[in-house]
Amino acid sequence: MTKSSKNSSSSNNKVVKLVGITIGSCVVLIFLIILFHLMRKKLQRLKKLESDIPAPEKRVKDFILKDGVVVPNKRDYYGETKTDELELPLFDFMTLVMATNNFSNSSKLGQGGFGCVYKGTLKEGEVVAVKRLSRISEQGIEELKNEVQLIAKLQHRNLVRVLGCCIEAEEKLLVYEFMENKSLDMFLFDKEKNVTLSWKIRLEIICGIARGILYLHQDSRFKVIHRDLKASNILLDRQMNAKISDFGMARIFGGDQNVAKTKKVVGTYGYMSPEYAMDGHFSTKSDVFSFGVLVLEIISGKKNTGSCYTSSQHNLLRQTWTLWNEGKALELLDESIRANIFENEVLRCIQIGLLCVQEHPEDRPNMSNILLLLSSEIAQISLPKYPGFFIRKRNTETEFSRIQDDLRSINEITVSILHGR
Ligand SMILES: *[C@@H]1O[C@H](CO)[C@@H](O)[C@H](O)[C@H]1NC(C)=O
Ligand SMILES: *[C@@H]1O[C@H](CO)[C@@H](O)[C@H](O)[C@H]1NC(C)=O
Ligand SMILES: *[C@@H]1O[C@H](CO)[C@@H](O)[C@H](O)[C@H]1NC(C)=O
Ligand SMILES: *[C@@H]1O[C@H](CO)[C@@H](O)[C@H](O)[C@H]1NC(C)=O
Ligand SMILES: *[C@@H]1O[C@H](CO)[C@@H](O)[C@H](O)[C@H]1NC(C)=O
Repeated sequence: MTKSSKNSSSSNNKVVKLVGITIGSCVVLIFLIILFHLMRKKLQRLKKLESDIPAPEKRVKDFILKDGVVVPNKRDYYGETKTDELELPLFDFMTLVMATNNFSNSSKLGQGGFGCVYKGTLKEGEVVAVKRLSRISEQGIEELKNEVQLIAKLQHRNLVRVLGCCIEAEEKLLVYEFMENKSLDMFLFDKEKNVTLSWKIRLEIICGIARGILYLHQDSRFKVIHRDLKASNILLDRQMNAKISDFGMARIFGGDQNVAKTKKVVGTYGYMSPEYAMDGHFSTKSDVFSFGVLVLEIISGKKNTGSCYTSSQHNLLRQTWTLWNEGKALELLDESIRANIFENEVLRCIQIGLLCVQEHPEDRPNMSNILLLLSSEIAQISLPKYPGFFIRKRNTETEFSRIQDDLRSINEITVSILHGR
């Protein structure tokens, strides 16, 4: 009897132990699952924060339209959209109508691919530039989102500042700081105003643009490829400081991403690198190419149209290359500004320009290298190789000027052009 009771009590003990262990492990398991879940959520959020970067070519979806207002598309812990973190001020449409005199012709500053730019004066007296995107252009909306998204996060003295935006019904507008001296092309290619650009000013503009691009490529939180660097996208403030504008076509690259490919090649003839125009490959080095063209344009005061296949006279890259090899590169400069220059400084800039427009992207220097070359007279500078440029034959065909082994794909290429501003 005592034995059996002992037995039963020991089996009771066993059951208790078993139940205890089971409950214990269940609790531990549940705890672990919850912990795992939390960690994963946190990791996901961290990852999102860390990258905050869309895959290439995938349009940024960080901003959404909500009740006609642009808001950051940030989801909080419970998946609800938070709307209190707007990084860009919103303007009332009527405010902008009043500021621009109902978008009158007289306040029009220029016309771009996506719409018109107007000068506006706000009630407080602040002068701004207002870009009104054309209503029909679907691209315009994408452009606006892209620009709002990007520019809200970028700040540098060589980038144009966006003050806010406005989206109401059909109207989509961006408000920028106003640039007294408009854009570089208006000085550079104007047969009277071009005289006001002394060598010193030209060099300062080149350095300003270089600093702006360096920031985009390396120093900002993101790696940004502008994709449409050209003289009309370089604005000038009162002191003739250069500021890069128009991020409608810009793309963000992830951490170690170097190249992306697009089927839709948009850009401006004369500034597009061959690998972009031909194959749709873009990278920091395709921006470097455009920068090189800009440098040579700023030095020579001539437009690189990239369109004249008959004579080298009109192809700035070929002309520069020829003069350089004949030891006559200084002839690129107009005589009127050749008077008080440091020849070495000019020659060095021409060489930098030629290095940037080399045919192979990997031969071109990066922006930090370029700034070093621009700012130091003793930095080692290499000899440029043949410039890469393609020639527009008819409207849609492009071709390298050099005989290429592989010309098969040539006829498949179409290059859409956005006409310059
Ligand atoms: C602005 O101009 C448009 C037509 O150009 C007109 O329909 C509209 O009434 C004007 N708005 C104001 C506030 O003047
Ligand atoms: C404003 O510009 C448009 C288009 O360029 C033109 O048709 C119109 O006549 C201009 N109006 C004035 C008042 O200049
Ligand atoms: C200004 O433009 C005119 C006409 O294109 C040209 O002849 C002249 O050489 C240019 N001057 C400078 C300083 O570039
Ligand atoms: C740039 O704009 C300022 C302010 O309008 C003006 O004083 C200055 O002369 C302009 N610079 C040139 C080179 O035209
Ligand atoms: C830029 O080029 C220099 C020299 O080629 C290289 O040392 C440097 O790592 C490059 N910088 C970047 C950010 O790629």
